[in-house]
This record gives sequence, structure tokens and C-alpha cells, in this order.
Amino acid sequence: MAANQSPQRFAHIIGWGKYVPPNVLTNDELAKRVDTSDAWIRERTGIMERRIVTKETTAMLGLYAAQEALEVADVAPNEIDLIIVATSTPEYIFPATASVIQDQLGADNAGAFDLSAACSGFVYALSVGAAMIRSGQHNTALVIGAETFSKILNWKDRATCILFGDGAGALLLRASDQPGGILSTVLGSDGSGGDLLNVPAGGSRNPASLETVMNNLHTVKMNGREVYRFATRVMVDATKQALVKANLPLTELDLLIPHQANARIIDYAARTLQLPPEKVFQNVEHYGNTSAASIPLALVEAIEAKRVNPGDHLVMVGFGGGLSWGSCAVEWTAPTDKRLITPQRAAQSRLRYRWANFKSFSHRVLRRVDSGVTHVLDRIEGRQNGHSG
Ligand SMILES: CC(C)(COP(=O)(O)OP(=O)(O)OC[C@H]1O[C@@H](n2cnc3c(N)ncnc32)[C@H](O)[C@@H]1OP(=O)(O)O)[C@@H](O)C(=O)NCCC(=O)NCCS
Repeated sequence: MAANQSPQRFAHIIGWGKYVPPNVLTNDELAKRVDTSDAWIRERTGIMERRIVTKETTAMLGLYAAQEALEVADVAPNEIDLIIVATSTPEYIFPATASVIQDQLGADNAGAFDLSAACSGFVYALSVGAAMIRSGQHNTALVIGAETFSKILNWKDRATCILFGDGAGALLLRASDQPGGILSTVLGSDGSGGDLLNVPAGGSRNPASLETVMNNLHTVKMNGREVYRFATRVMVDATKQALVKANLPLTELDLLIPHQANARIIDYAARTLQLPPEKVFQNVEHYGNTSAASIPLALVEAIEAKRVNPGDHLVMVGFGGGLSWGSCAVEWTAPTDKRLITPQRAAQSRLRYRWANFKSFSHRVLRRVDSGVTHVLDRIEGRQNGHSG
């Protein structure tokens, strides 16, 4: 290393968390709403049930997953300097869901933005977070995938409403001079396929109107067969590309964490890559497709199932609307035996988040008082100026 050269930086995953709403919607329950059956859904998708929010919002799901990731890493919110939320079902068009979560976490030193790349969003966000760390711009980045897809489904369209669910997952990245962590990322897009999977209205092309609402244009439209063909191709290609970029032969891959859209797509990729079942993680049966949340949700469950260990090589691979795809090779470095959270520690955390809420509330109140008082003072001053003039 030359004298004036700064040491190489690596982005390691040091914390992980997930949250799914407790409300379960089974295939049998869905069959009471649309013309489908448990047997059809299981056979064509592998899905048995999914979680659907009742009162929770996307930011709430993301917040709970993020809090767990911070607990696991034993990192305080004010140590985070970047928050990225991958979502297609944000809290609002703006402000960003990431800003809502930043406020509720009390992450006072963090920049925050949302990233939209549909079901590939989490891999895109991880790629950006890791690049920011490697470049020296940031030290601790919180990357969240959070979705409430149930809010943008047409519950009368059996071709789409059976596929999706709600949830969130989060990873905490930190800079280190030790090799490992995020080894490579691959991002891809083919915008010519945008109409194969989209929500046609609500953006600037088709702003919300009575007509868009009446025609259900604020819900997911999909050409299932074409998306299936695209998915099977890119899952295999993107997995291989991430490994090549990371200088890893396929035999060195310990676990593939694929986007959980359909068990048949995952099985196809595993067969083509000649990976045995123990090298491919799958939980689509319990959650359906949770879009940008699906990969972190799967990774966290793989860790909980003790299928990830220090030294392992993983590939996360996603695809979705855009059309878009992304993959990421990781050398896992963090100990995965989850730290025991003592009651005292849990109480400290609760207090911290209550304090963050209180601070946020008082900032809002003070801002209003400040604006009101300033307005009154300006008027008085204006009058005085008027009199004197
Ligand atoms: C959606 C998907 C499961 C449909 O499976 P498929 O085997 O391709 O089924 P098809 O679309 O060819 O439809 C076959 C028949 O089942 C019917 N069908 C569709 N949805 C159904 C449902 N929920 N229950 C029962 N029948 C259904 C169709 O109407 C069609 O009937 P027809 O032959 O009388 O016209 C499959 O195409 C798929 O998984 N695509 C990828 C979707 C995806 O992953 N999207 C997210 C990407 S991030």
C-alpha cells in the first residue's frame, strides 16, 4: 500500500432483524374471496399462507425489523449514519419511509432515503449501502426492505392476490478493514418489460382520479407467464455473475437466499445450478411474496435456523418489476448465536424509543409554536414599519 493510500474498507453485516404482522391469511380463507383453491395455490406457487397487516403500516414493519437488527448488533440508533428503505409500498409518495423510520428510531445522525426497485429493491439497497461504506462516505448503514403489498392488491384478481404478503427485514452494515462482508453486487434492468408487472396509476403519468380508482389502476397488474420466464432466466444468470465477480466457484457457495416469489421458480434455479436443497433457503410457503422484504426476511430466518455460520459464502438474488434483478455475494463474518437480551437491556431500549418519540413530538410542537410566534412578531413589526412609514 502506498504511503498516501487509505486502507481498503469492507462492508460487513453486523445486525439483522425481521418483523411480520401476526395476522395470517390461509389459502382456504382466500378461496372464500376468489375462485381458487388451496390445492391450486400450493401446486403452482408453493404458498400455504401469508401475513397481512391489520393496523400496521410499512414504516411500522420496517421500524420493528430495524430495532431488532440494532439489538442483535448492540448498536445505538445515533451510531447509524445512513438509512435506506427499499419499498414499493411506501408510507407516502413523500416524505420517504426511511425518514419516518429515522425519526422513530431517534437516529439523529443519519441521512435517509427510499429506493424503488420493486422485488429487487433490497439487493439494490444493500449494494448502495455497501458502496457508501466502501467509499468511506458512511460507516454504519441500516438497510431495510419493508412492504405492505396487501394495500396495492386487487383482492378480486385471483391471478395476483394469492401471491403476495406483508413483512419487513433489516440488515445493519458496518465498515471494517477486515476482508469479508459484501463481496460483490450485480444490478440489472430491462425497462422494456415494465408493463409485465406494474401499478399503472398514482404516479405522474396517471395521477389519481375517479377514473383510475374506478378502474382499479392503483393495484398490481401482472403477466404471470412472462414474469415466470424472465425470473427463471435471471435468477440463474445473476447468481453465477455475483459468484464470478466475487472470484468464487459455485462449489464454494454455502447458501443461496433467493427472492421468495414462487417455489417453482426457486426449484428451477436450484436444479439448473445443481444445488442440493440444503444449499437453498425457502420460506415462501409461510409468507408468499413480500417483495423487497422477502430476501432479508429469508436471510434472518436462515440465521435463526442455524443455516448461516461465520466463514460461509452466501448469494442473495432477486428479480421483479422494472423489469429488474440483482444479486449479491457475501462472506458471512458475524457470530450468529443471537445475543441474549437481558430485561434491563430491553427496558433501556424501550426507554430510548419512547424518548425518541417524545423528542419528535416536542420538535413538532416547538416548530408550530415557533412559526406562530414568528408570524405574530412579523405582523407587529410590519404594522410598526407601516406606522413609522
Ligand atoms: C402466477 C402463476 C402462479 C400462474 O401459474 P401458471 O401455471 O403460469 O398459470 P397460468 O397463468 O398459465 O394460468 C393457468 C390457469 O389457471 C387459472 N388461474 C390463475 N390464477 C388462478 C388461481 N389463483 N386459482 C385458480 N386458477 C387460477 C388461469 O385463469 C388459467 O386458466 P385457463 O387455463 O382456464 O385460462 C405463475 O405464472 C407465476 O408464478 N408467475 C410469476 C409471478 C411472480 O413471481 N410475480 C412476482 C415477481 S416479483
